[in-house]
Amino acid sequence: MFLGNLARDIQLTQKKQTKTNPAMKLSVSSFLILGASLFTLSSCVTTPTAQKMREANTMLKQSAKKAEKGDYAGANSAAAAIGSGVRGAVELAPVVQSKTGKDVNLKPLLAAWESGPYKDLRKALAGSQEKAATAAFTNLRGQCTNCHTAIGRPEIRVN
Ligand code: HEC
Repeated sequence: MFLGNLARDIQLTQKKQTKTNPAMKLSVSSFLILGASLFTLSSCVTTPTAQKMREANTMLKQSAKKAEKGDYAGANSAAAAIGSGVRGAVELAPVVQSKTGKDVNLKPLLAAWESGPYKDLRKALAGSQEKAATAAFTNLRGQCTNCHTAIGRPEIRVN
C-alpha cells in the first residue's frame, strides 16, 4: 500500500517533468517576440534624434538653394528650421555614446554651433549679403561635421 503510493507519486512526478513546462513555453515565446521587435527596430533605424537631424539636413539644402536664387527671405526662414532641427535633435538626447564608447555631452557643441556659423548665416541671410552667406554656409556645414566627428561619425553626409 505504502509502496504502491510511492510508485504512483514517482510516476506523477515524472509525468509532470516530461510535460512541457508552461513557464518555459512562455519564455520561448517571449524570446521570439523580443527577437521580432529587435528585428523591427533595427530595420527601422530612425531614432527621433536622427529624424530631426535629417530634417535639418533637408532644410539646409533648401536654404542654400533659395539663397542661390536670391530669395534671402525664404532662405532665412529655411535656416530657422535648420536651427530648430539641430537644437531639437540635441535636446532629445543631449548625451550620446561615441563610437569609442565614450559619453559625449552635445550641449557645448550645440552652443558653439549656434553662436558660430549658424548665427553668421542668419545675419548674412537677413541682410541679403551674398558673399557672407556663401561663406557662412560652408562654415556651417563644417561645424555640423565637427559635431559628428566628436561622436565618431564623421561619415554622416551633410548637404
Ligand atoms: C551638437 C552636435 C550636432 C550638430 C551641431 C549637428 N549634428 Fe547631426 N547628428 C548629431 C548626432 C548625435 C547624430 C546621430 C543621431 C542618431 O543616430 O540618433 C546626428 C546625425 C545626423 C544625420 C544622420 C541621421 C540619420 O539618418 O541617421 C544627419 C543627416 C545630420 N546629423 C545632419 C546634420 C546637419 C545638416 C547639421 C548642421 C546643420 C548637423 N547634423 C549638426 C549631432 C549633431
